Amino acid sequence: MTKLVVGNWKMNGSRSLIEQMVETLKQEVLNPPLAQVAICPPFPLIPALESAVAQSSIGVGAQNVSNHLSGAYTGDVSVSMLKEFNVTYGIVGHSERRSYFGETDELVQQKVKILLEHGIRPIMCIGESLEQRESGEHEATVLYQLVEGLKDIAADQIAQCVIAYEPVWAIGTGKTATPEQANQMHQVIRTKLIELTSEESAKAIPILYGGSVKGSNAAELLNQSDIDGALVGGASLKPDDFCQIIRGAS
Ligand code: PGA
Repeated sequence: MTKLVVGNWKMNGSRSLIEQMVETLKQEVLNPPLAQVAICPPFPLIPALESAVAQSSIGVGAQNVSNHLSGAYTGDVSVSMLKEFNVTYGIVGHSERRSYFGETDELVQQKVKILLEHGIRPIMCIGESLEQRESGEHEATVLYQLVEGLKDIAADQIAQCVIAYEPVWAIGTGKTATPEQANQMHQVIRTKLIELTSEESAKAIPILYGGSVKGSNAAELLNQSDIDGALVGGASLKPDDFCQIIRGAS
């Protein structure tokens, strides 16, 4: 499948970075497209991104969504608001949301569900902590998050999801899982997705790797058999670095 490279800007960025990024991507890596590319900026920048990417293949994503449809939920953003701005991807269950905002697997599942019901592809993040890896619980942790996050969701809906494997110890730390470590976990995830859907569907579900992906390690990671793309934090804020990662996907 065509690799999918998604930039997660976290709480960074500006209107001017959007213009600069979209221009650079168009010039450097989109003609012809070397990968499917999407950017997930903070909510207030989504309208500017939507305008900037018009007439290009760049996708617009959000970093979060409310588990409620509408109502008295101060500070939340609903799925129908995202739809109004042509958002096609929504990150859910990022480890920063899980650890700083107390998001549980149950809440992650509700968000996955609400996105799918409105035709937005969830990018569901799962990953173990360093402690869990060192004690040999990494596979069990990741599989638990995967199964709980997709609980009660029909197989044809699961087929619309994107899964991002992000070992927590590799996020923003400069430490990357080795390509073999990452690929091995991707295979474990794929095997579970086959159980939850079918072999054909599971093979078409993109499983992204995230955690200190940069220009210098992208090609090696993305060459692995079960790594279908990358979820990029820090390096997605620098147009040249992001382009280098996308080149590594081709
Ligand atoms: P990083 O972040 O690339 O800065 O490590 C990845 C992520 O958190 O999605």
